[in-house]
Amino acid sequence: MPLPWTTKYRPKTLADVAGNAGAKEAFVAWVKSWGQSRSSKRAILLHGPPGTGKTVTVEAVARDLGLDLVEIDASDSRTGDQLRKIAGGAVAQGELFGRSRLVFLDEMDGINLAQDTGAISALIETIEDAKCPVVLAANDPWDPKIRSLRDHCLLIEFRRLGVRDCLMYLKKLSASEGIDTDEQALRLIIDRNNGDMRSIVNDLQTFTTGRKKLTYADVGWLAWRDRKESIFDALSKVFSSKTCAQARRAADTIDIDLDMFFEWIYENTPLQLTDPQDLAKAMEALARADLVLARVKRRQVWQLFPFALDQMTAGVAMSRERTKPAWVPMRFPSRIMSLSRTKKERAMRLQIGAKIGAKTHLSSRAAEKQFLPYVSFISQNKPEMIPGLSEWLDLDEEMVQYLSGNGAKGAEEKKEKSKIPAKVKGVRKVAKPVSGRKKAAAS
Ligand SMILES: Nc1ncnc2c1ncn2[C@@H]1O[C@H](COP(=O)(O)OP(=O)(O)OP(=O)(O)O)[C@@H](O)[C@H]1O
Ligand SMILES: [Mg+2]
Repeated sequence: MPLPWTTKYRPKTLADVAGNAGAKEAFVAWVKSWGQSRSSKRAILLHGPPGTGKTVTVEAVARDLGLDLVEIDASDSRTGDQLRKIAGGAVAQGELFGRSRLVFLDEMDGINLAQDTGAISALIETIEDAKCPVVLAANDPWDPKIRSLRDHCLLIEFRRLGVRDCLMYLKKLSASEGIDTDEQALRLIIDRNNGDMRSIVNDLQTFTTGRKKLTYADVGWLAWRDRKESIFDALSKVFSSKTCAQARRAADTIDIDLDMFFEWIYENTPLQLTDPQDLAKAMEALARADLVLARVKRRQVWQLFPFALDQMTAGVAMSRERTKPAWVPMRFPSRIMSLSRTKKERAMRLQIGAKIGAKTHLSSRAAEKQFLPYVSFISQNKPEMIPGLSEWLDLDEEMVQYLSGNGAKGAEEKKEKSKIPAKVKGVRKVAKPVSGRKKAAAS
C-alpha cells in the first residue's frame, strides 16, 4: 500500500521545511532563549493557514535541538477543562531523563469549550507556571475562543508558501521519486493550491501515481480545481460512509454534473475496494446506475434519476464489507484525462484541416478526415515534398513538425504503428532475395 507523501516526506529537520524563513528563525530563537528573561512571553502561538508547516516546524525543531516533545491535539479533548488537565500534567516537568521538554498544544482553534468558560483562564495559569516552553498552533489567531490566551503568547505568523519555495521542494521530491516533472505542470499545481503544501504534495502524488513523467497536459484539467476540492470530499464519503443516507448526501455537496461524478466513482472504485467480492458488488451497482442514467438521457425520464444516484453512492458504499481501511489516493478519471491530453493534438489537426479545406473547398473537419492522413503520409515518406506542400497549404513550422511525425504525438504514432504485426498492416512478407555468394555457399 503506498504511503501518503505527506507522511513519507514529512520534514525531519528544520532545513527540510520549505519557506517561512523568518518565522522559523524567530521560533528557534524563542525556544533557545526560553526562560532566560522574565520579560519574554512564556508561550508562543504559531498561526497561519493550513498546510504551511506549523506542526512540522515544531516537530523538526524539537528533533534538531534534542528536546523531549509532548504533542497534544487540543481538538481531541472533549472539554477545555480536560485539555487543561492534560496540559497541566505535561508542563509540570521541565525535563525528562535529562532532556529538556517542549509542550505543543496543536489545533488550538479546534478546542471544545462547550460549557466550561473558566477553562481558558485556568489554561493561561498553567502556561504561566510552566516549567518548559509551551507552543500553541492555530489557523486563526483571532478566533474569539482563544482571544485571552493570545495575549499571553508571542505571535508568529506562518504565511502561505511562495511559488519559488514550493517549486524547489517539489523538484526535490520528484527527483527522490524518480519522476520527470515539467516545471509548468508543477507551477499549475502550486498555483491552484494557494500556498498549501499539504494539498500541493497530495495533488502531486495523485497526478503521478503510476507514471514516471508529468507534463502540463496531464494537469491541464486543474481548471476544475474549485470543483475538485468538493469532488475529493464527496468521493471519500462514497467510499467510507457507513450508512446509505450518508453516502447519498455526497452527491448533494458537489458542483459537477452527475455523468462526471459517475466517471470519478467508476475510476476509483477498483482502487478503493480491493476485496474482489466488494468490488464485484460495487461494479454491479455502478452498472445499474449506468443503465438508468442512459435511459434517463435517452427518454428524458427524470423520475428515474434518484435511483441512479442511489446506486452510484449508497450502492457503492454498502458494497464495502471486507475491504480493510487504507489510504489510497484518488485518481482523476482516465477517460477525461486522455481527452484533455489529446486536446492540443485535436486542435492542431483541425488547424491543418482548415488549411487543407481552404484549398479543397471543404470544411475543416471534412478536410481533416479525408485529406490529412494522406498529407501526413506524404510528409513522412517523401520528405522532399514538404517544402512545396507547406508553401502551397501555408503551413507553419509546428504544423510541418506535426505532419512529419516529429511532434510528441507523431513519435507516439510511429511507435504504435511499429507494434502492429506486418500481417495486420496488410504487408505481405516476401522472401528476401538471396545474394549470389550465399546461393553458391548453399549449393
Ligand atoms: N513548509 C513545508 N515544507 C515542507 N512540507 C510541508 C510544509 N508545510 C506543510 N508541508 C507538508 O504538509 C503536511 C502538513 O503540514 P503541517 O501539519 O505542518 O501543516 P500545518 O501548517 O500544521 O497545517 P494545519 O493548520 O492544517 O494543522 C506535512 O506532512 C508536509 O508533508
Ligand atoms: Mg498543524
